[in-house]
Amino acid sequence: MEGAVINSLPGMEGMCGGMLSCGTCHCYIDEQWINRLVPPKAEELAMLESMDDRRPNSRLGCQIRITDDLSGLVVHLPVEP
Ligand code: FES
Repeated sequence: MEGAVINSLPGMEGMCGGMLSCGTCHCYIDEQWINRLVPPKAEELAMLESMDDRRPNSRLGCQIRITDDLSGLVVHLPVEP
């Protein structure tokens, strides 16, 4: 989330600054990468469950800790209505 916001990536707002209270960092992890991420914690899953456009590969960008292992990670953003 921070990387996207710093680079002004459209579609990733991160309004709460990573406090797990807004959901504006919702994104879809590319299928090739989903199993390489640390699984979401209960708080993240609870937030995701409230989203209409949730998919099996949905995550909150602010909860993904970027490490060297994730170099090249492909993330898709929801299309705004
Ligand atoms: S930035 Fe608000 S929940 Fe992720």
